[in-house]
Amino acid sequence: MSEQRVTLTDEGSGKSVELPVISGTEGEPTLSIKAVPSTLGYFTYDPGFTATASCTSTITFIDGEKGILRYRGYPIEQLAGKSTFLEVAYLLLFGELPTTDEFDGFQSDITHHTMVHEKLNTFISGFHYDAHPMAMMAGVVGSLAAFYHDKMDMSDPEHRVQAAKRMIAKMPTIAAACYRHHMGRPVAYPNNELTYTENFLDMMFSVPAEKYIVDPVAAKAIDLLYILHADHEQNASTSTVRLVGSTGANPYACVSAGISALWGPAHGGANEKVLIMLDEIGDLSRVGKYIDKAKDKDDPFRLMGFGHRVYKNYDPRASIIRKAAHEVLENLGTSDPMMDLAMELERIALEDEYFVSKKLYPNVDFYSGIIYKALGIPVSMFTVMFAIARTVGWVSQWLEQEQTPTPIGRPRQVYAGPTEREYVPIESR
Ligand code: ACO
Repeated sequence: MSEQRVTLTDEGSGKSVELPVISGTEGEPTLSIKAVPSTLGYFTYDPGFTATASCTSTITFIDGEKGILRYRGYPIEQLAGKSTFLEVAYLLLFGELPTTDEFDGFQSDITHHTMVHEKLNTFISGFHYDAHPMAMMAGVVGSLAAFYHDKMDMSDPEHRVQAAKRMIAKMPTIAAACYRHHMGRPVAYPNNELTYTENFLDMMFSVPAEKYIVDPVAAKAIDLLYILHADHEQNASTSTVRLVGSTGANPYACVSAGISALWGPAHGGANEKVLIMLDEIGDLSRVGKYIDKAKDKDDPFRLMGFGHRVYKNYDPRASIIRKAAHEVLENLGTSDPMMDLAMELERIALEDEYFVSKKLYPNVDFYSGIIYKALGIPVSMFTVMFAIARTVGWVSQWLEQEQTPTPIGRPRQVYAGPTEREYVPIESR
């Protein structure tokens, strides 16, 4: 913490308080306002936490103005170009890139936790066939606490790490099982011969009747998307995980809450909504109409996959995904009119005064759906794909929080309801 202080004076009462400035290793200095209520008698008001840091963290750094994203100091562009999802998972969880031995051990741990209790499949089969997979995921992941509670001592760091690894390992198995239930296909069990992403694709698409060979283009593309989605500091779902975790709840409950938060269309649910939007636009000639709708204050329509709370510049993940989308379509030897539609939408929006002045750029969700679609992942599974990757971020942030004494998350409010009044019996109302 730096020695810098800011003095806040209440001109009405004449009272002042010196507030310490907390400086991290990078990023804006932050004013610690903890002393304000006890000295000046005011709480602070910040709906949506647009100006409030909720924790200190050493995991992910974002500079939204410059379009920078780094995991544990490593630029996302380098990790996307040179690393793998499991290596990135290790980095996010433990803070350093693994040595060969460390990586082998980690990979083996993850591989050997991919199976789920058979009763979990019975649980999944209880859902109606058309249940949204995110609804199933939230329920099923939350239920893991019922299966593993006896082996979880939250005060033991090893148990906590084991729970984190277990969740990373089981997420693709659960996701694929939810999809297969929806399709009416028998459960596919994990195959320890395959890599993390190959295994996921195998569990999604293999059928008992014939051999399924995973397309390396698909496995590589998904691995890349998982790297890009793995963490994003204190976004809505991660903050949810931390808030739930601050109560001492078990990690499965925390991640289940994170999945629910991610599902919203303003957050991870946007990748599904982008494809639905592009489908609705349907033709290049209609792009202008939708741009006008997005700008119309009386129309609730927003350009899905555009805008971000932190990035006021091109989301660095979006540029990587845009390039990858072209490569995947080329490698698969296919084209998709949606890609042309998305590029035209982006071109017009980036020249339009409304989007330029509000610094609205394509975000991570804008192009990811085009890749998923090309790989045969159904639209309803897009946000599940995001959840599989973000589980790494959620559990890393949860582990970090568990290592630091953290008070229960408990915001205040500005009460604007009725003041005290007398109860009136029902017959007299
Ligand atoms: N289309 C049209 N206008 C937009 C859009 C958009 N996609 N996004 C923001 N705006 C406008 C708002 O109407 C607002 O205008 P105003 O100042 O005239 O009222 C201004 O830009 C600022 O928008 P806010 O909603 O205040 O910005 P905030 O930081 O709260 O929201 C958010 C960010 C939720 C991502 C928003 O941009 C949005 O809804 N985008 C579409 C959904 C989406 O793509 N979400 C995924 C985000 S990435 C992720 O979570 C993984």
